[in-house]
Amino acid sequence: IFSGEATFMKGVVDMAGLPPSDLGEFAFAGRSNVGKSSILNALMNRKGLARTSNTPGRTQEVNFFDIGGSFRLVDLPGYGYARASRTKVDAWTELIFDYLRGRPNLLRVFVLIDSRHGIKPVDEEGMALLDESAVSYQVILTKIDKIKESGVARRVAEVSEALASRPAAHPEVLATSSEKGRGLKEVRGAILGALEG
Ligand code: GTP
Ligand code: MG
Repeated sequence: IFSGEATFMKGVVDMAGLPPSDLGEFAFAGRSNVGKSSILNALMNRKGLARTSNTPGRTQEVNFFDIGGSFRLVDLPGYGYARASRTKVDAWTELIFDYLRGRPNLLRVFVLIDSRHGIKPVDEEGMALLDESAVSYQVILTKIDKIKESGVARRVAEVSEALASRPAAHPEVLATSSEKGRGLKEVRGAILGALEG
C-alpha cells in the first residue's frame, strides 16, 4: 500500500467541504512546524506530496490524500501558531477541533510532538478533546535526528508516563525522523494494524 498510489484529493476550509465519510482516515495533528506534512511525505516516500516549509503555518487547510483507494491520510494545519492573525488561528483551531471531534471514519489521530520540546499546554488541550470525544490517538515524537539517543529514550519515557495518567489507554509512543527515515516502519505498522482492527 505504501509504495502504491497516493493522490491529493482536496483541501478543505470548513466542515461542509469534507469528503464523504466512506473511507477510513488517519490524521496528523500537532503544533505548527512539528513535521506533520513531512511525515506524510516520508511515509509515502513522496517528497512534495504535502507541502512543507521552514516557516510555521504552511498547511492552512485540512488536506485529504487518497492512499490507493484503501484509506486516507489527512494533513491538518498546526494548532497554536501565534504569528498568524487571531481570527485565522481561531478559524483553523475550530475547524481542526470540529474535524477531530466529529468524524465517524477517523480511525486514529497521530498526535505529533517535537522530541526536543515535549508536551506543551496546547497538546494537552488537543489530547483532552480526543479523550473526551473517545477518538483513538497515538503520540509520535518527531525530529529525533536533532537530539541524542539518550534524550530520545528519556522523552519517550516522559511522554508515555504522561499518557498513562490520561483516562483512556493509548498505543505506544513512536519515535521518528522523517529526515532520516527512522520509526516510519512502526507508523506504517500502526496504520495497517488499525485498518485490520
Ligand atoms: P505546519 O503545516 O506549518 O503546521 O507545519 P508541519 O507540522 O506540517 O511541519 P513541516 O512538515 O512543514 O516541517 C516543518 C519543518 O521541519 C521543515 O523545515 C521540515 O524540513 C522540518 N522537519 C520535518 N521533519 C523533520 C525531521 O524528522 N528532522 C528534521 N531535522 N527536520 C524535520
Ligand atoms: Mg504542514
